[in-house]
Amino acid sequence: MKKAIYPGSFDPITYGHIDIINRAIKIFDEVIVVVSKNANKKFLLSDEERQTLIQKIFDNQKVKVIIFSGLTTKCALENGASTIIRGLRMITDFEYEFQMNLANKELNKEIDTVFLMTDIEHSYISSSLVKEIHNLAGDISKFAPPAVIELLDSKKKSD
Ligand code: PNS
Repeated sequence: MKKAIYPGSFDPITYGHIDIINRAIKIFDEVIVVVSKNANKKFLLSDEERQTLIQKIFDNQKVKVIIFSGLTTKCALENGASTIIRGLRMITDFEYEFQMNLANKELNKEIDTVFLMTDIEHSYISSSLVKEIHNLAGDISKFAPPAVIELLDSKKKSD
């Protein structure tokens, strides 16, 4: 069984991430979406909120969603995956992804990173952009699904 992990912040998940997951499940038997837990990063959504949103969107046997804190290579090993999936949008992503790939290779030579490219229509979407537009009362329906909009709306109201 070909298993892969797809790690990220997903704060929140966007149509760009969804596009990558949909592409990944065509290649792998199981895709474990890994919601990164990192005490040093300030997320808008809690670990559980980020996980639940992805679970709501992917009601699919091939997609599992976990929360993980620690090294991505360790997460892959613990979950029986030998592939890390990362999405590439613009060429500007490449430098960071290249560096991360080299570091992960150094940590575990058996684990490869597979880069998938989003559809051109999602190539400029990022979670930060979605949060900024939403915060300024802009329409994010082209960037993120209704479950995300609902949660962001409810967060804004409770501010
Ligand atoms: O969605 P993001 O914020 O680009 O995801 C970044 C993530 C979570 C994939 C990256 O920060 C990560 O792998 N963190 C886990 C710690 C780790 O393994 N670091 C060494 C690799 S550089």
